[in-house]
Amino acid sequence: PRILILGPPGAGKGTQSANLAEEYDVEHVTTGDALRNNKDMDISDMDTEYDTPREYMEAGDLVPDAVVNAIVEEALSQDDGFVLDGYPRNLDQAEELEGMTDLDVILSLEVPREELVERLTGRRVCDECGANYHVEFNPPEEEGVCDECGGELIQRDDDNEESVRNRLDVFEENTAPVIDHYENNESFVIIDGEQPPDEVWDDIETAVDARV
Ligand code: AP5
Ligand code: ZN
Repeated sequence: PRILILGPPGAGKGTQSANLAEEYDVEHVTTGDALRNNKDMDISDMDTEYDTPREYMEAGDLVPDAVVNAIVEEALSQDDGFVLDGYPRNLDQAEELEGMTDLDVILSLEVPREELVERLTGRRVCDECGANYHVEFNPPEEEGVCDECGGELIQRDDDNEESVRNRLDVFEENTAPVIDHYENNESFVIIDGEQPPDEVWDDIETAVDARV
């Protein structure tokens, strides 16, 4: 299946995309991870304000469309099934995506803003394998150590309170209109993302199975 997962920063897109990729044997295409792995790539020839993605990401601002569109275009051309996470983030990107592929399911995870701040400032990620934890909601067995691979758990550069609040503002301004744009699509489903992760997953699996 071709699955799109939408939602604000911290809604659980990464967490649930990992489940989707495993359950449906599809590629997890995530612009956030792709950019984090290429933070220092030279984008100065794309006529951008900064020379690398790093400056945009640390502040919680959007990386310019041309950079992100190229990443997604490349990733989707290699896959028939995917879960797309982190894109599109504005209406221009949504239009771009329409030229690249059709979608079977569009999931929209809904979580209230104050809960998002708590989730993001408490998030820890594994430096080695990328696994996701939360100091309170999903702690590792041993503090600071990844259960999966023994790697070190670190805090993302953009998970400080100032960047988090900016990311939520950027979401409201740029990405909320994308969700409105998909709302009347027959593949669109709202998922209550405020429930515990297992219950969110149950709802997602039911929604996807009904559409593929
Ligand atoms: P990106 O990496 O996409 O970050 P984001 O959208 O801010 O999303 P997150 O990864 O923070 O959250 P998530 O929804 O995946 O939540 P998670 O599962 O981790 O983008 C980062 C930056 O890259 C952007 O700011 C921008 O600069 C740039 N960028 C990326 N794409 C771009 C694009 N298309 N255009 C331009 N720029 C782009 O969960 C969060 C926490 O909550 C975790 O600790 C988790 O354990 C916990 N949690 C998860 N589910 C639950 C639950 N049900 N209950 C309690 N806790 C939970
Ligand atoms: Zn790990």
